[in-house]
Amino acid sequence: MTSALMPTYARQPVGFSRGEGVWLYDTQGRRYLDTTAGIAVCGLGHANPVVAEAIAEQARTLVHTSNLYEIPLQEELGAALREVSGMELCFFGNSGAEANEAAIKLARMFAHKHKNIAEPAIIVMENSFHGRTLATLSATGNKKVQDGFGPLVQGFVRVPHDDIAAIEKAAAENPNIVAILVEPIQGESGVRMPKDGFGYLETLRAICDKNDWLLMLDEIQTGNGRTGKYFAYQHTKILPDVVSTAKGLGNGFPIGACLVRGKASDLFGPGNHGTTYGGTPLGCRAALTTIQELQKGPIANAAVMGERIMQGFRDKLGDLGVTVEGAGLMIGVVLPRNCTELVARARDEGVLLIVSADNRIRLLPPLIITAEEADLIVEKISALVRAFLAETVAA
Ligand SMILES: Cc1ncc(COP(=O)(O)O)c(C=O)c1O
Repeated sequence: MTSALMPTYARQPVGFSRGEGVWLYDTQGRRYLDTTAGIAVCGLGHANPVVAEAIAEQARTLVHTSNLYEIPLQEELGAALREVSGMELCFFGNSGAEANEAAIKLARMFAHKHKNIAEPAIIVMENSFHGRTLATLSATGNKKVQDGFGPLVQGFVRVPHDDIAAIEKAAAENPNIVAILVEPIQGESGVRMPKDGFGYLETLRAICDKNDWLLMLDEIQTGNGRTGKYFAYQHTKILPDVVSTAKGLGNGFPIGACLVRGKASDLFGPGNHGTTYGGTPLGCRAALTTIQELQKGPIANAAVMGERIMQGFRDKLGDLGVTVEGAGLMIGVVLPRNCTELVARARDEGVLLIVSADNRIRLLPPLIITAEEADLIVEKISALVRAFLAETVAA
Protein backbone atom coordinates (compact mmCIF):
# COMPACT_ATOMS: atom_id res chain seq x y z
CA MET A 1 0.00 0.00 0.00
CA THR A 2 1.33 3.45 -0.80
CA SER A 3 1.85 5.88 2.06
CA ALA A 4 -0.96 8.29 2.90
CA LEU A 5 1.55 10.90 4.10
CA MET A 6 2.61 13.97 2.13
CA PRO A 7 6.24 13.40 1.16
CA THR A 8 7.57 16.40 3.13
CA TYR A 9 10.37 14.33 4.68
CA ALA A 10 12.99 12.10 3.06
CA ARG A 11 12.59 9.49 5.78
CA GLN A 12 15.25 6.92 6.63
CA PRO A 13 14.17 3.27 6.39
CA VAL A 14 13.81 2.66 10.10
CA GLY A 15 11.00 3.22 12.63
CA PHE A 16 11.09 2.97 16.41
CA SER A 17 8.72 1.33 18.81
CA ARG A 18 10.24 2.38 22.13
CA GLY A 19 12.98 4.35 23.78
CA GLU A 20 14.86 4.39 27.05
CA GLY A 21 17.29 7.16 27.97
CA VAL A 22 19.86 7.56 25.19
CA TRP A 23 18.66 4.41 23.38
CA LEU A 24 15.96 3.76 20.77
CA TYR A 25 14.62 0.32 19.78
CA ASP A 26 13.37 -0.27 16.25
CA THR A 27 10.31 -2.28 15.30
CA GLN A 28 12.55 -5.38 14.96
CA GLY A 29 13.92 -4.88 18.51
CA ARG A 30 17.36 -3.62 17.38
CA ARG A 31 18.93 -0.99 19.65
CA TYR A 32 20.43 2.35 18.51
CA LEU A 33 22.53 4.94 20.33
CA ASP A 34 20.61 8.16 19.66
CA THR A 35 22.86 11.22 19.25
CA THR A 36 19.92 13.28 17.95
CA ALA A 37 17.43 13.23 20.89
CA GLY A 38 14.65 13.91 18.38
CA ILE A 39 16.66 16.94 17.14
CA ALA A 40 17.50 18.49 20.51
CA VAL A 41 14.13 17.65 22.05
CA CYS A 42 14.41 14.80 24.56
CA GLY A 43 17.00 16.31 26.92
CA LEU A 44 15.93 14.01 29.74
CA GLY A 45 16.13 11.01 27.44
CA HIS A 46 13.44 8.92 25.81
CA ALA A 47 10.47 7.81 27.92
CA ASN A 48 11.69 9.67 31.00
CA PRO A 49 9.68 8.01 33.81
CA VAL A 50 9.10 11.19 35.86
CA VAL A 51 7.80 13.15 32.86
CA ALA A 52 5.75 10.14 31.70
CA GLU A 53 4.09 9.85 35.11
CA ALA A 54 3.36 13.59 35.26
CA ILE A 55 1.77 13.53 31.78
CA ALA A 56 -0.29 10.43 32.63
CA GLU A 57 -1.50 11.86 35.92
CA GLN A 58 -2.38 15.22 34.35
CA ALA A 59 -4.19 13.48 31.46
CA ARG A 60 -6.35 11.71 34.03
CA THR A 61 -7.07 15.04 35.77
CA LEU A 62 -7.44 17.84 33.18
CA VAL A 63 -6.05 18.07 29.63
CA HIS A 64 -7.44 21.31 28.21
CA THR A 65 -9.72 24.14 29.18
CA SER A 66 -9.08 27.40 27.31
CA ASN A 67 -7.23 30.68 27.60
CA LEU A 68 -10.70 32.12 28.20
CA TYR A 69 -10.04 31.09 31.81
CA GLU A 70 -7.24 31.20 34.34
CA ILE A 71 -4.90 28.25 34.01
CA PRO A 72 -3.05 27.71 37.30
CA LEU A 73 -0.46 25.37 35.75
CA GLN A 74 0.33 28.00 33.09
CA GLU A 75 0.97 30.52 35.90
CA GLU A 76 3.24 27.99 37.62
CA LEU A 77 5.17 27.27 34.43
CA GLY A 78 5.50 31.01 33.72
CA ALA A 79 6.92 31.55 37.20
CA ALA A 80 9.37 28.65 36.74
CA LEU A 81 10.55 30.03 33.41
CA ARG A 82 10.89 33.52 34.88
CA GLU A 83 13.04 32.01 37.63
CA VAL A 84 15.36 30.08 35.28
CA SER A 85 15.60 32.82 32.64
CA GLY A 86 15.67 36.20 34.40
CA MET A 87 12.96 37.29 31.93
CA GLU A 88 9.65 38.82 33.04
CA LEU A 89 6.67 37.51 31.06
CA CYS A 90 5.83 34.46 28.91
CA PHE A 91 3.50 33.59 26.07
CA PHE A 92 2.92 29.88 25.37
CA GLY A 93 2.44 28.23 21.97
CA ASN A 94 3.06 24.75 20.62
CA SER A 95 6.26 24.89 18.58
CA GLY A 96 9.43 26.77 17.84
CA ALA A 97 8.04 28.47 14.75
CA GLU A 98 5.10 29.74 16.78
CA ALA A 99 7.44 31.09 19.46
CA ASN A 100 9.38 32.95 16.75
CA GLU A 101 6.17 34.25 15.18
CA ALA A 102 5.41 35.84 18.54
CA ALA A 103 8.90 37.38 18.62
CA ILE A 104 8.49 38.81 15.11
CA LYS A 105 5.08 40.25 15.97
CA LEU A 106 6.55 41.76 19.15
CA ALA A 107 9.27 43.51 17.15
CA ARG A 108 6.66 44.98 14.83
CA MET A 109 4.46 46.08 17.73
CA PHE A 110 7.53 47.67 19.35
CA ALA A 111 8.09 49.68 16.14
CA HIS A 112 4.49 50.85 15.89
CA LYS A 113 3.86 51.44 19.58
CA HIS A 114 7.15 52.93 20.75
CA LYS A 115 9.13 54.09 17.75
CA ASN A 116 6.58 55.40 15.29
CA ILE A 117 8.10 53.31 12.49
CA ALA A 118 5.51 52.23 9.92
CA GLU A 119 7.63 49.66 8.02
CA PRO A 120 9.86 48.01 10.60
CA ALA A 121 12.74 45.69 9.73
CA ILE A 122 14.47 42.95 11.72
CA ILE A 123 18.10 41.95 11.17
CA VAL A 124 18.47 38.20 10.54
CA MET A 125 21.50 36.07 9.62
CA GLU A 126 22.67 34.02 6.67
CA ASN A 127 22.46 30.25 7.34
CA SER A 128 19.95 30.82 10.13
CA PHE A 129 16.87 28.68 10.75
CA HIS A 130 13.76 30.02 12.46
CA GLY A 131 10.94 27.73 11.27
CA ARG A 132 8.55 26.90 8.44
CA THR A 133 5.62 29.29 8.83
CA LEU A 134 5.58 32.12 6.30
CA ALA A 135 7.13 34.74 8.58
CA THR A 136 9.70 32.37 10.09
CA LEU A 137 10.74 30.90 6.73
CA SER A 138 11.16 34.47 5.49
CA ALA A 139 13.46 35.13 8.46
CA THR A 140 15.36 31.90 7.77
CA GLY A 141 18.64 32.25 5.87
CA ASN A 142 18.27 29.24 3.59
CA LYS A 143 16.96 29.49 0.02
CA LYS A 144 15.87 25.82 0.01
CA VAL A 145 13.41 26.53 2.82
CA GLN A 146 11.97 29.55 0.95
CA ASP A 147 11.85 28.23 -2.64
CA GLY A 148 8.33 28.03 -4.04
CA PHE A 149 6.71 30.05 -1.27
CA GLY A 150 7.05 33.61 -2.54
CA PRO A 151 6.08 36.32 -1.98
CA LEU A 152 8.00 36.17 1.27
CA VAL A 153 7.08 38.24 4.30
CA GLN A 154 8.82 41.61 4.07
CA GLY A 155 10.73 43.37 6.79
CA PHE A 156 13.90 41.32 7.19
CA VAL A 157 17.42 42.60 6.53
CA ARG A 158 19.90 39.76 6.08
CA VAL A 159 23.55 39.97 7.05
CA PRO A 160 26.30 37.31 7.18
CA HIS A 161 26.38 35.23 10.39
CA ASP A 162 28.89 36.46 12.97
CA ASP A 163 29.72 39.71 11.15
CA ILE A 164 29.45 42.72 13.46
CA ALA A 165 30.65 45.18 10.80
CA ALA A 166 27.75 44.13 8.54
CA ILE A 167 25.26 44.83 11.34
CA GLU A 168 26.78 48.24 11.98
CA LYS A 169 26.61 49.03 8.28
CA ALA A 170 22.93 48.02 8.18
CA ALA A 171 22.28 50.21 11.23
CA ALA A 172 23.82 53.22 9.50
CA GLU A 173 21.89 52.64 6.28
CA ASN A 174 18.43 51.65 7.50
CA PRO A 175 16.52 53.74 10.07
CA ASN A 176 13.64 51.21 10.05
CA ILE A 177 15.56 48.47 11.87
CA VAL A 178 14.05 47.72 15.27
CA ALA A 179 15.47 44.34 16.31
CA ILE A 180 18.02 41.58 15.79
CA LEU A 181 16.78 37.96 15.68
CA VAL A 182 19.64 35.51 16.10
CA GLU A 183 20.49 31.97 17.24
CA PRO A 184 23.29 32.05 19.86
CA ILE A 185 24.77 29.03 18.07
CA GLN A 186 23.35 28.27 14.63
CA GLY A 187 21.81 24.80 14.82
CA GLU A 188 20.20 23.56 11.63
CA SER A 189 23.11 24.80 9.52
CA GLY A 190 25.43 22.46 11.41
CA VAL A 191 26.37 23.92 14.82
CA ARG A 192 28.11 27.16 13.88
CA MET A 193 29.65 28.83 16.90
CA PRO A 194 30.56 32.53 16.56
CA LYS A 195 34.34 33.07 16.55
CA ASP A 196 34.12 35.08 19.78
CA GLY A 197 31.95 32.34 21.36
CA PHE A 198 29.16 33.73 23.53
CA GLY A 199 30.99 37.08 23.62
CA TYR A 200 29.16 37.65 20.31
CA LEU A 201 25.93 38.04 22.29
CA GLU A 202 27.49 40.74 24.47
CA THR A 203 28.49 42.68 21.36
CA LEU A 204 24.98 42.33 19.94
CA ARG A 205 23.51 43.51 23.26
CA ALA A 206 25.67 46.66 23.10
CA ILE A 207 24.59 47.35 19.49
CA CYS A 208 20.92 46.91 20.38
CA ASP A 209 21.27 49.24 23.38
CA LYS A 210 23.02 51.87 21.29
CA ASN A 211 20.31 51.79 18.59
CA ASP A 212 17.29 51.17 20.84
CA TRP A 213 16.60 47.79 19.16
CA LEU A 214 15.27 44.59 20.68
CA LEU A 215 17.78 41.76 21.09
CA MET A 216 15.71 38.66 20.26
CA LEU A 217 17.43 35.31 20.84
CA ASP A 218 16.12 32.19 19.15
CA GLU A 219 16.95 29.64 21.86
CA ILE A 220 14.68 26.99 20.43
CA GLN A 221 17.62 24.65 19.98
CA THR A 222 20.19 26.14 22.40
CA GLY A 223 17.75 26.46 25.33
CA ASN A 224 16.61 24.08 28.05
CA GLY A 225 20.09 23.06 29.12
CA ARG A 226 21.48 22.05 25.74
CA THR A 227 24.67 24.17 25.97
CA GLY A 228 25.35 23.48 29.67
CA LYS A 229 23.36 26.46 31.01
CA TYR A 230 19.58 26.76 31.03
CA PHE A 231 19.80 29.32 28.21
CA ALA A 232 22.90 30.03 26.11
CA TYR A 233 22.94 33.75 27.02
CA GLN A 234 23.58 32.66 30.62
CA HIS A 235 27.17 31.96 29.59
CA THR A 236 27.38 35.79 29.59
CA LYS A 237 26.14 38.55 31.90
CA ILE A 238 23.63 39.97 29.40
CA LEU A 239 19.87 39.52 29.22
CA PRO A 240 18.02 39.66 25.89
CA ASP A 241 14.72 41.52 25.43
CA VAL A 242 12.96 38.56 23.81
CA VAL A 243 13.75 34.81 23.94
CA SER A 244 11.97 32.10 21.98
CA THR A 245 12.22 28.49 23.07
CA ALA A 246 10.56 25.13 22.35
CA LYS A 247 12.16 21.72 21.51
CA GLY A 248 13.59 20.61 24.89
CA LEU A 249 10.99 22.50 26.91
CA GLY A 250 8.54 19.58 27.14
CA ASN A 251 10.98 16.68 26.60
CA GLY A 252 8.93 15.70 23.54
CA PHE A 253 5.58 17.09 24.58
CA PRO A 254 4.89 19.89 22.05
CA ILE A 255 5.17 23.28 23.74
CA GLY A 256 6.95 26.53 22.91
CA ALA A 257 7.34 29.84 24.70
CA CYS A 258 8.24 33.42 23.95
CA LEU A 259 9.72 35.29 26.93
CA VAL A 260 10.07 39.06 27.24
CA ARG A 261 11.43 41.66 29.59
CA GLY A 262 12.00 45.40 29.86
CA LYS A 263 10.89 47.37 26.84
CA ALA A 264 9.37 44.25 25.25
CA SER A 265 7.10 43.51 28.19
CA ASP A 266 4.29 46.04 27.58
CA LEU A 267 3.73 45.27 23.89
CA PHE A 268 0.95 42.67 23.81
CA GLY A 269 -2.48 43.22 25.34
CA PRO A 270 -5.72 41.23 25.18
CA GLY A 271 -6.52 40.26 21.58
CA ASN A 272 -3.02 40.89 20.18
CA HIS A 273 -1.95 37.26 20.09
CA GLY A 274 -3.21 33.81 20.97
CA THR A 275 -3.56 30.13 20.07
CA THR A 276 -6.12 27.55 21.18
CA TYR A 277 -3.63 25.01 22.52
CA GLY A 278 -1.12 27.48 23.98
CA GLY A 279 -0.31 26.57 27.58
CA THR A 280 -2.83 23.80 28.22
CA PRO A 281 -2.76 22.19 31.67
CA LEU A 282 -1.27 19.06 30.08
CA GLY A 283 1.50 20.87 28.16
CA CYS A 284 2.35 23.03 31.16
CA ARG A 285 2.58 20.03 33.48
CA ALA A 286 4.95 18.30 31.03
CA ALA A 287 7.15 21.41 30.75
CA LEU A 288 7.09 22.19 34.46
CA THR A 289 8.23 18.66 35.26
CA THR A 290 10.90 18.85 32.54
CA ILE A 291 12.30 22.14 33.90
CA GLN A 292 12.43 20.71 37.43
CA GLU A 293 14.14 17.50 36.32
CA LEU A 294 16.63 19.31 34.04
CA GLN A 295 17.87 21.33 37.01
CA LYS A 296 18.56 18.25 39.14
CA GLY A 297 21.77 17.44 37.25
CA PRO A 298 21.28 17.00 33.49
CA ILE A 299 22.28 20.60 32.65
CA ALA A 300 25.53 20.38 34.61
CA ASN A 301 26.07 16.94 33.06
CA ALA A 302 25.65 18.44 29.56
CA ALA A 303 28.56 20.82 30.23
CA VAL A 304 30.86 18.03 31.46
CA MET A 305 29.89 15.42 28.85
CA GLY A 306 30.08 18.02 26.08
CA GLU A 307 33.70 18.82 26.96
CA ARG A 308 34.47 15.10 27.16
CA ILE A 309 32.98 14.39 23.73
CA MET A 310 34.60 17.41 22.05
CA GLN A 311 38.01 16.58 23.50
CA GLY A 312 37.54 12.95 22.50
CA PHE A 313 36.95 13.89 18.86
CA ARG A 314 39.88 16.33 18.86
CA ASP A 315 42.17 13.59 20.19
CA LYS A 316 40.93 10.91 17.82
CA LEU A 317 40.39 12.89 14.61
CA GLY A 318 42.42 16.11 14.89
CA ASP A 319 45.19 14.65 12.72
CA LEU A 320 42.71 14.22 9.82
CA GLY A 321 41.79 17.91 9.58
CA VAL A 322 38.53 17.33 11.45
CA THR A 323 37.52 20.25 13.69
CA VAL A 324 34.98 20.42 16.51
CA GLU A 325 32.82 23.32 17.66
CA GLY A 326 29.86 23.90 19.94
CA ALA A 327 28.98 24.10 23.62
CA GLY A 328 27.61 21.53 26.04
CA LEU A 329 25.83 18.80 24.10
CA MET A 330 25.35 20.84 20.92
CA ILE A 331 28.38 19.69 18.99
CA GLY A 332 29.47 20.01 15.37
CA VAL A 333 32.17 17.70 14.05
CA VAL A 334 33.33 19.29 10.81
CA LEU A 335 34.86 17.05 8.15
CA PRO A 336 37.01 18.23 5.26
CA ARG A 337 34.44 16.95 2.72
CA ASN A 338 30.82 15.93 2.14
CA CYS A 339 29.94 13.09 4.51
CA THR A 340 26.17 12.71 4.15
CA GLU A 341 26.57 8.98 3.55
CA LEU A 342 27.79 8.61 7.14
CA VAL A 343 24.17 8.80 8.30
CA ALA A 344 23.35 5.41 6.75
CA ARG A 345 26.70 3.86 7.67
CA ALA A 346 26.29 4.93 11.31
CA ARG A 347 22.74 3.60 11.39
CA ASP A 348 23.99 0.22 10.17
CA GLU A 349 26.38 0.30 13.15
CA GLY A 350 23.55 1.14 15.56
CA VAL A 351 24.19 4.89 15.87
CA LEU A 352 21.71 7.61 14.87
CA LEU A 353 23.25 10.88 13.79
CA ILE A 354 22.52 13.97 11.70
CA VAL A 355 24.75 15.46 9.00
CA SER A 356 24.04 19.11 8.16
CA ALA A 357 25.44 21.39 5.45
CA ASP A 358 27.00 18.33 3.74
CA ASN A 359 30.09 18.03 5.96
CA ARG A 360 29.02 18.75 9.55
CA ILE A 361 28.09 15.89 11.87
CA ARG A 362 25.63 17.43 14.32
CA LEU A 363 25.47 15.76 17.73
CA LEU A 364 22.59 16.57 20.10
CA PRO A 365 22.36 13.61 22.49
CA PRO A 366 20.13 13.55 25.58
CA LEU A 367 21.61 15.60 28.43
CA ILE A 368 21.44 12.60 30.78
CA ILE A 369 24.11 10.72 28.83
CA THR A 370 26.66 8.79 30.93
CA ALA A 371 30.44 8.95 30.51
CA GLU A 372 30.39 5.41 29.04
CA GLU A 373 27.75 6.40 26.49
CA ALA A 374 29.64 9.60 25.66
CA ASP A 375 32.82 7.57 25.08
CA LEU A 376 30.88 5.11 22.94
CA ILE A 377 29.67 7.99 20.71
CA VAL A 378 33.26 9.20 20.25
CA GLU A 379 34.62 5.71 19.66
CA LYS A 380 31.97 4.58 17.16
CA ILE A 381 31.76 7.82 15.18
CA SER A 382 35.55 8.32 15.11
CA ALA A 383 36.04 4.81 13.69
CA LEU A 384 33.43 5.50 11.00
CA VAL A 385 34.93 8.88 10.11
CA ARG A 386 38.48 7.50 9.97
CA ALA A 387 37.44 4.67 7.64
CA PHE A 388 35.33 7.02 5.50
CA LEU A 389 38.08 9.61 5.06
CA ALA A 390 40.68 6.93 4.28
CA GLU A 391 38.39 5.45 1.61
CA THR A 392 37.45 8.74 0.03
CA VAL A 393 41.08 9.86 -0.11
CA ALA A 394 41.96 6.59 -1.81
CA ALA A 395 39.04 6.92 -4.25
C1 LIG B 1 16.82 27.60 16.03
C2 LIG B 1 15.47 27.08 15.62
N1 LIG B 1 14.45 27.93 15.50
C3 LIG B 1 13.23 27.50 15.15
C4 LIG B 1 12.98 26.18 14.88
C5 LIG B 1 11.60 25.74 14.48
O1 LIG B 1 11.02 25.00 15.50
P1 LIG B 1 9.75 24.06 15.20
O2 LIG B 1 10.22 23.00 14.27
O3 LIG B 1 9.35 23.53 16.56
O4 LIG B 1 8.71 24.92 14.60
C6 LIG B 1 14.03 25.26 14.97
C7 LIG B 1 13.81 23.84 14.61
O5 LIG B 1 14.69 23.15 14.22
C8 LIG B 1 15.30 25.72 15.36
O6 LIG B 1 16.34 24.89 15.45
